[in-house]
This record gives sequence, C-alpha cells and structure tokens, in this order.
Amino acid sequence: MTVYLNGEYLPIGEARVPVLDRGFLFGDGIYEVIPVYGRKPFRLSQHLVRLQNSCDGIRLTNPLDAAGWTTLIADLISRQDFADQNLYLQVTRGVAKRDHAFPQTATPTVFMMANPLVTPTPAQFEAGVPAVSAHDNRWQRCDIKSIALLANVLLRQLAVDEGATETILFREGYLTEGAASNIFAVKDGRLLAPPRNHLMLPGITYDTVLELARDHGIPLEVRQISEAEVRAADELWLTSSTKEVLPITRFDGHAVGDGHAGPLARRMLALYQALKDTA
Ligand code: PDD
Repeated sequence: MTVYLNGEYLPIGEARVPVLDRGFLFGDGIYEVIPVYGRKPFRLSQHLVRLQNSCDGIRLTNPLDAAGWTTLIADLISRQDFADQNLYLQVTRGVAKRDHAFPQTATPTVFMMANPLVTPTPAQFEAGVPAVSAHDNRWQRCDIKSIALLANVLLRQLAVDEGATETILFREGYLTEGAASNIFAVKDGRLLAPPRNHLMLPGITYDTVLELARDHGIPLEVRQISEAEVRAADELWLTSSTKEVLPITRFDGHAVGDGHAGPLARRMLALYQALKDTA
C-alpha cells in the first residue's frame, strides 16, 4: 500500500514519523476518514469543510486549501490497485521539543493512507449489530475530529468486551453518539436525531441521512433524545463513513424492535445507495 507522508509517496512500511511529533506525544492533531467508491471520494467537499473546522478548533493552520487537498487525495486514490477505499488523512502540529504550548515554528505533519473500504454486507445489514451503553465521559469538544481518541478507544472497547459492535453514549440522560459513529432512533415511523452541537461529531453520514429524510418526506425530529426513548425505540441505527447505515438490533442484551433491520433502515439504506450511485 502506498501512503503519503509530507510530500512523499512511499510504501507504508517505509513511512516514518519522528518521536517528537506532537501527534505521538500529545495527540495534537486532527483527522478525516473519507469513503471512496469506484475511485471517487464521496461528499469530499463536506469532509474538507469539516477538516477546516477541526483545524480552526485546535488553532492549526490548514496546510492545504480545498483545491490542494482535492489534488492530493485524487493522486493517492489513483496509486492504489483497488477502487473502493477508506481514505484516512491526519494533520498534526508537527515536530518540536516537548512542551505543551504551541511551538513557535513547526511544520504540520501530513499523513494519508487508503485501505480497502469494507462496508457491511446485505446479510450483516439485515442481522444488524449489538450495542451496549455507557456514560459519555469525553471532553466538551467532541465536534473536533481530534486524533486524541483515548476516551473513544476505551468506550468502544466496552462494546468489544461484551461481544458487541458499538457503545451508545449518554450525557446527563441524553443520547450523544456512538464511540465511533452517530446514532439515530426510530419511533412510530418518525426518525429521531440528536442535534448537532459540541457534544458530538457532526458526521458526514449523519448530515447525509438528515438530507435524505428531508428530501424524501420521512418524518424527522432533530432534538435531544432521552435514554428512555433510546431504550424504547422501534429501530436504532449507527451511521459512519465506513459502516454507512447499520441497524443496531440488540441493545444492552435486549432485542431492538423485532431484532432485525427495520423498515425505515431498509428505506434509508436504499436512498443512501442510490445517492452513492449518482454521486
Ligand atoms: N469515525 N462520531 C464519531 C465519534 C466518529 O468517530 C465517527 C466516524 C462518526 C461518524 O462520522 P462520519 O459519518 O463522518 O464518518 C461520528 C470514523 C469513521 C473513524 O474514526 O474511523
């Protein structure tokens, strides 16, 4: 696999970052995950806007403008020998003597890689996945796509420890998101989504689902969703760039709805697939 590091393309085994990189020492950086279908990045402009917001959020000058990123991303995509890709990019504050304060002079480290994109199969979609719950103990800037993911790592591991796929997070009794995804609920045919704010990552897939719901007349409520509502939901979904729209069919050991993908999830996945095909 060919990766990009600071202006060079090289085999992943040869890519090296100095130990004084602030990404390594402090988790001082931001990232994006962009799905690529048939060598075309999906919703690229939205990912680049979020990247800019993450840079602004950590007071890091974005090393490239949208045109620069678009060229670089196209170049990396073309160097892989598989068409559907999971494109990961990260920017750190660069290499400097260890000190919490920003270095006076440091060049951001830019790293990109593209792995084969593995999305859920139709059978996995139909069966759905199990999830567990946890208190959302992360910081208050979850809108920044920070590489400092220790809290998310620990929270997601709670799911894996229970043989589940995702951990659904609650703060003060309200749904925020998953450890690595956004979460939607369905009740009586209405789609419920937590509002975009600093307590969750504004998922590109989340925005796409909201857009599709509005465009296709699916009843939608974007508002705070209580833990009790999540537990009583007819359907639960997780969404992300790599999982797309995936039903959660068991939650804390109980079946969600009838324990299979629900009708609104099927409809939304079909709309999402159609959008991918025309993008
Ligand atoms: N994670 N919330 C969190 C905490 C996430 O880590 C992600 C995605 C999402 C969904 O965002 P999007 O729809 O833009 O993928 C929400 C990526 C895939 C990751 O860290 O690998």
